[in-house]
Amino acid sequence: MAWLRLICVLAIVSTVSADGTVPVGQRVDCFPDPGFSQDACKARGCIYDSDYEQNKPSDPLCYFPANNGYTVTDQSVKANTTTATLTFSSGATANPFGTNFQQLQFQSTQLGNALKVSIKPVGTSRYVPPVPIAEPFIQSPESLNVEIVNNTGGFSFRVVRQINNIRLWDTSIGGLHFADQYIQIATYLPTDKIYGFGENIHQNIKHDFTKYTTWGMFARDQPPNSVNGEGENLYGVHPFYLGLEEDGKAHGVFILNSNPQDVTTGPAPHLVYRTIGGQLDIYYLPGPTPENVIRQYHELIGKPFLPAYWALGFQLCRYGYSGVDEVKDTVARLKAAGIPQDVQFADIDYMERYKDFTYDHDKWGQWPNFTDYLHSQGQRVILIFDPAIQADYDTFKRGIEQNVSWIEWPRDDLVMRDIQDQYPLAKNTKIMLGVVWPDKHVGFPDFLDPTNITTNWWADEFKRYHDLQKFDGIWLDMNEPSNFGTNQDPPWYYGSSDHPNDLPLKCPTSGADSALDIPPYKTKGVYIYGDGNVFASNTLCAFGTSIRGQSTLYNTKNLYGYSESVSTWKALEVARGKRAAIVSRSTFPGSGTVAGHWLGDNTARWEDLRTSIIGAQEFNLFGIPYVGSDICGFLGTTNEELCLRWQQMGAFHSFMRNHNTAGEPAQDPAQWPSVANATRIANLFRYRHLPYLFSLHFNATRYGGTVIRPVFFEFPLDATTHTLSHQFLWGPAVLVAPVTEPGVKTVSAYLPTEANWYSLFDTYYGSQLDSGHGVFPAPWTSIIPTFLRAGYILPRQAPALTTTAARQNQFELVIGSAVDAGTGSAHGELYWDDGETWIPIGAIEQHNYYRFAFDFSFTTASATLKITALNTATGITLPPLNNIEVFGYPYIPDMNQFYVNGQQVKIDSLTYSPFTKVANITSNGLIDLNKGTVTLSWKNKSN
Ligand SMILES: *[C@@H]1O[C@H](CO)[C@@H](O)[C@H](O)[C@H]1NC(C)=O
Ligand SMILES: *[C@@H]1O[C@H](CO)[C@@H](O)[C@H](O)[C@H]1NC(C)=O
Ligand SMILES: *[C@@H]1O[C@H](CO)[C@@H](O)[C@H](O)[C@H]1NC(C)=O
Ligand SMILES: *[C@@H]1O[C@H](CO)[C@@H](O)[C@H](O)[C@H]1NC(C)=O
Ligand SMILES: *[C@@H]1O[C@H](CO)[C@@H](O)[C@H](O)[C@H]1NC(C)=O
Repeated sequence: MAWLRLICVLAIVSTVSADGTVPVGQRVDCFPDPGFSQDACKARGCIYDSDYEQNKPSDPLCYFPANNGYTVTDQSVKANTTTATLTFSSGATANPFGTNFQQLQFQSTQLGNALKVSIKPVGTSRYVPPVPIAEPFIQSPESLNVEIVNNTGGFSFRVVRQINNIRLWDTSIGGLHFADQYIQIATYLPTDKIYGFGENIHQNIKHDFTKYTTWGMFARDQPPNSVNGEGENLYGVHPFYLGLEEDGKAHGVFILNSNPQDVTTGPAPHLVYRTIGGQLDIYYLPGPTPENVIRQYHELIGKPFLPAYWALGFQLCRYGYSGVDEVKDTVARLKAAGIPQDVQFADIDYMERYKDFTYDHDKWGQWPNFTDYLHSQGQRVILIFDPAIQADYDTFKRGIEQNVSWIEWPRDDLVMRDIQDQYPLAKNTKIMLGVVWPDKHVGFPDFLDPTNITTNWWADEFKRYHDLQKFDGIWLDMNEPSNFGTNQDPPWYYGSSDHPNDLPLKCPTSGADSALDIPPYKTKGVYIYGDGNVFASNTLCAFGTSIRGQSTLYNTKNLYGYSESVSTWKALEVARGKRAAIVSRSTFPGSGTVAGHWLGDNTARWEDLRTSIIGAQEFNLFGIPYVGSDICGFLGTTNEELCLRWQQMGAFHSFMRNHNTAGEPAQDPAQWPSVANATRIANLFRYRHLPYLFSLHFNATRYGGTVIRPVFFEFPLDATTHTLSHQFLWGPAVLVAPVTEPGVKTVSAYLPTEANWYSLFDTYYGSQLDSGHGVFPAPWTSIIPTFLRAGYILPRQAPALTTTAARQNQFELVIGSAVDAGTGSAHGELYWDDGETWIPIGAIEQHNYYRFAFDFSFTTASATLKITALNTATGITLPPLNNIEVFGYPYIPDMNQFYVNGQQVKIDSLTYSPFTKVANITSNGLIDLNKGTVTLSWKNKSN
């Protein structure tokens, strides 16, 4: 296989003009930091352009020359690996933020049909994130090649799709630099249809390449600003994007690096990636379909965990419950309003002065008992836990006794004695004490501890606590990690009535010890918050040690939430031993193997409703399909209409939770009769279709891939879908068009013309609708417009007030016929298990589960539904399949000619409308799925 080509081109092939200037749309910014001036630009040896265009303020006026200072001085090809030595030319434009390593090693490795490219200095070992990235043999019908170019523009490389020579990457745009604390690589892109990078607020799902935009990727306790927070870095870090090429083929690019980093997208189209540590390990995934790309990505980073079935039920939370009585009243109110609810949360209010593994024995004294009551009702409890542990109570003491690893000061002389000496347990340690919600200082466990000690202690603390109150799921907050008031004088909480005046953490801001907190280039994730911000703002000091002193937060901070999630997975197994769900605020590639995510502390605004629709799609790309937003909005005061529309939309997100902040009016859905009604209707729809949603999650756990997916994933050749931000798909088969604005009673939606669609909502229920652009009724008293794609079958189940109850109810099928010349067909599947048996990571194939395939077809004379048991479970009894609804059925079924496995059966009820073409067949005990493979058939009445 000619997968590598070395190209030695002597002619200048770039678009550089003779005087070295580069057109405004193709520049690599030489001044991504503040302080730009003509002189400062020239001092960097970069090119200055005085031609400022008022209407294009993002154009870089100081930019790198369009060549790379590195040239190829040595190269070799062995098996599937190519290496090249790159040498930095004297006289080339220098790295503005450090001294470039003289020699770099370029290495390209084939991972089956995918490629990995590594660039690192020769002879120096660099930090690589301790995240288990598999390097599997990735299979695809398409291959990628690497081409190394060594011409007068210096070294560059291309990653090329073999079949059509499309260049997924081409670094001949220049700007390759690699110094200890500043690594930069830039590339032309084959398309401006780029999706992903996170965690950021994106106003549109497709990136905007009409201007230059820089996105910070640095985990931060930063509430999303959906109105004008462009570029702000939020809680997690996801250096991954999917590109959709001109011909509808897709590729993926993942850069494995956990240092603070940012990326600029520009009009060429091109991108510039910058990180301030580690090395470049870049994975290229060939697709060629969008869903192929995501599955390939999840093969690398790990496939998503399977949530407990109940974790797909509706969940309610708020910060500021006054105590158990208020929670009791709230749960009762929902039940009285007929609103399905599976999970009740408690926020930090339940704790005794915000300490993990405690509860307030006064206002929350009845909480363990109420937990038992909820369980008796088939409901569940999820509790919040923060990573930071107050330095003077049992949990901390046991941690010290067991030699738990903590984030520590790198040297004794740096320890803040006026804080440390207050705590006998911490006095003789270097534990870096900070301030979070608890009254006293806190230590931060180092979950990257390479021994098992820290995880075992963490798990044991959860187990001890679970013995006191039987929580079901775990909510991980504040794990960027967040620290209050770092370097602030006075810290903000000195004004708070709910927080004592603890001395704030101070990190060095000058001298050699500030080298990590104040690096030469701080990244967009620091600059965007203005002067005075450093790495440590809102968090611990960058030089704080991790991995038992082997690394620093400078390298590993972006992994804090990830590693806490991994330890908590173990804790859940030890404490509870049954499948549940963990949701984590901070995430990194791989987090989805153990945890879900909520989109953070959003605000009750229409903008936030809209961006959460995009965020949920992006986190499905990132391998975290168990995702959703705080319904009705967390911060600020919501209102009836916004809350109603958000409940309607959120009913389609895998993690469905209404959550509110303290001090705002209650916003549970029973607060307004209209919202209660709309939520009841939306939740009943959701619960009815949970067998389908669960099956989508099961597939994601088995194969990787998305649960909620952007519309273009299924229709990559339909350009109209490429920019659809606010519609989304449930798997391949259901399209959802939410209401995203106030004051409307209709939704404009686009139904891709490659498919046929049936209404799954109240208006025109079951009828085939015209594909293309349409306007659909969206009253408050229905679900939002939702469509079933012809050719698909959804498994469903009669709903109930909890999933515990619903799981006992009859199964049903809804069939969307794909009709062609009087015949028709449709296909679907159902995964089913007991809903809560623990599944170790990667052990889904050993799990006890059912899988059924549904294959339906009809002709003028008859119809056949074949149900094949592809996998059978032991010890699980399935309710009967009693109801089948067929959309797009052109004939009248003959009620007297129904057969199961060829034996005639009596049907209790059959309705058929020649106008809607919906046939509805109901019969008690029609199909017993426990018996395995079965065929249902019937004859049509002759005309
Ligand atoms: C690459 O180009 C440089 C400068 O033009 C030259 O010195 C070097 O020998 C070339 N490398 C190879 C492998 O041809
Ligand atoms: C190289 O790649 C080919 C095909 O992609 C594969 O069959 C082979 O095992 C690989 N060889 C090595 C040494 O990895
Ligand atoms: C627990 O709650 C139940 C009502 O749900 C109540 O009857 C019982 O007295 C409570 N038990 C205790 C120990 O408070
Ligand atoms: C950690 O525990 C696992 C089993 O839970 C064991 O296989 C492994 O060897 C332990 N590792 C260390 C470093 O103790
Ligand atoms: C609730 O919804 C039903 C339709 O399902 C409608 O008839 C009724 O008026 C609604 N009630 C309220 C209070 O909105």
